[in-house]
Amino acid sequence: MEVTTQSASQTQKFGQEFANKLRGGEVVALVGDLGSGKTTFVQGLAKGLGVKQRIISPTFILMRNYNHFYHLDLYRLEDNVWEEVKNLGVEEIWDNPDNVVVIEWAEKIHDHLPKDVIWIQFESEGKNKRGITIR
Ligand SMILES: Nc1ncnc2c1ncn2[C@@H]1O[C@H](COP(=O)(O)OP(=O)(O)OP(=O)(O)O)[C@@H](O)[C@H]1O
Ligand SMILES: [Mg+2]
Repeated sequence: MEVTTQSASQTQKFGQEFANKLRGGEVVALVGDLGSGKTTFVQGLAKGLGVKQRIISPTFILMRNYNHFYHLDLYRLEDNVWEEVKNLGVEEIWDNPDNVVVIEWAEKIHDHLPKDVIWIQFESEGKNKRGITIR
């Protein structure tokens, strides 16, 4: 499934709608360049899941947790990426069907993700235009 959004708020709205499809237990893997809209999408997604807190990029913290919603950003990790992520206890977190886990730069742990992971690709197609592909 592929959509094009024309603004950040459209991407948020799309994330919010996507949240309605989730039942718990999903791992959502986000891929795409810097500024392609991943965190913007996560803001909408979190809102759709009923998260009240403002979503800020977890860049310096690796993982942020909002009740049953977990947001990871692997951008800064270079070496032993899986070891670091595993040490956060992420397997136990995503094995819990109450939780939803969203991971920016998820390709860095591609081989370790659950088989039923949902991949979402973001592409900048202009100043305010972003292509979003779900597979
Ligand atoms: N259609 C759009 N969808 C999403 N963001 C958009 C769009 N048009 C413009 N923007 C702007 O692009 C930027 C997207 O930033 P965002 O933090 O979501 O990217 P990111 O993919 O998470 O980047 P990073 O890899 O650094 O975490 C924001 O400044 C946002 O306002
Ligand atoms: Mg981001």
